[in-house]
Amino acid sequence: MSRKLPQVPPEITALVPYKPGKPIEELERELGISGAIKLASNENPLGPSPRALEAMHAALTNLHRYPDGAGFALRQALAARFKVGFGQTCIGNGSDEIIEFLARAYIRPGQMALAARPSFLMYSKLVQVAGGRLVETPLDADYRIDLKAMLAAITPETRLVFINNPDNPAGTAVSRRQLGEFLDRVPEGVLVVLDEAYIDFASDPEVAQGVDFLDHPTPVVVMRTFSKIAGLAGLRIGFALGPEEVINAFDRVRQPFNTSSVAQAGALAALGDDEFVARTRELVWRGLQDFYRCFDELGLFYLPSQANFVLVKVGQNAPAVADALLRRGVIVREMTSYGLPEFLRISVGLDAENARFIKEFQAILKG
Ligand SMILES: Cc1ncc(COP(=O)(O)O)c(C=O)c1O
Repeated sequence: MSRKLPQVPPEITALVPYKPGKPIEELERELGISGAIKLASNENPLGPSPRALEAMHAALTNLHRYPDGAGFALRQALAARFKVGFGQTCIGNGSDEIIEFLARAYIRPGQMALAARPSFLMYSKLVQVAGGRLVETPLDADYRIDLKAMLAAITPETRLVFINNPDNPAGTAVSRRQLGEFLDRVPEGVLVVLDEAYIDFASDPEVAQGVDFLDHPTPVVVMRTFSKIAGLAGLRIGFALGPEEVINAFDRVRQPFNTSSVAQAGALAALGDDEFVARTRELVWRGLQDFYRCFDELGLFYLPSQANFVLVKVGQNAPAVADALLRRGVIVREMTSYGLPEFLRISVGLDAENARFIKEFQAILKG
């Protein structure tokens, strides 16, 4: 290559590539070990929904055809399930892509979106790619999303407000009453986005469910994913429910075949796999209790979680503890990139995986 490339604009150069949890195979290669476990990416340890697997196998024979770009069957099922109109549904290549639709459709240079800090890292990235700015309000003293601070931070330039409920990485959740009071006060011209990637794990009946607020005068978009509860993170499919006008805007900015036919088939089947959902929830709730017992015994501060992971305060040596766990073949999430360097986030695994984490964690902290 001898000719000069066009310059990458400085606002793109300034972006930091997303650092996902280390894949198991990479860790094993690096350390020369086998049998490592990953409790770092909030995945479903049970594997994919069996119904989804079956439907995806059947869908393979049709891979020579383009997918249904409108996602008709899946969107019809979503509309029936959540009692909304077909035109109020949309599907994305993971809910990550829905965040991208929102940024592309609603954010222009100089405009602003709002989210809590720390929160899911993709909000800031995708808003910045669209030329906008993400303003962040800190979580409150109880590590909950501070809705009052968010209201106060809304300006005439604010287009989107992201509320991650339950919150990643805190695991805390906003109640129905709190969300209702917040929405009552949001000014005109703002779209509230409820990112419910973890809502299926919430055990507290008071936790707000976005679908109950779709008719609120303040416009609301609810985002959910098949990555977590349905065990389909590798398939890349999520969905959104919201006002038809918003879904129309998404249709204008998205690729025509943004989700694959196999993903649509898998998601459709997963939507009816209630048995798998129940089994996943039970596993997660049991695993959380095991983690809490361990942290109580060690006298560590942690946040009781409404999601499938827990945030625990280990102290200044948290990165070193994460590293020591890695060397023992247990991958957890170190929280420096979220601005919580004293914490670790541990995703619930299978019972035996949780027990292994607990054993190694105790050994490291006591040793
Ligand atoms: C809060 C939150 N939102 C959205 C996503 C994106 O999920 P996906 O793109 O796999 O649907 C994640 C994934 O970890 C998440 O934690």
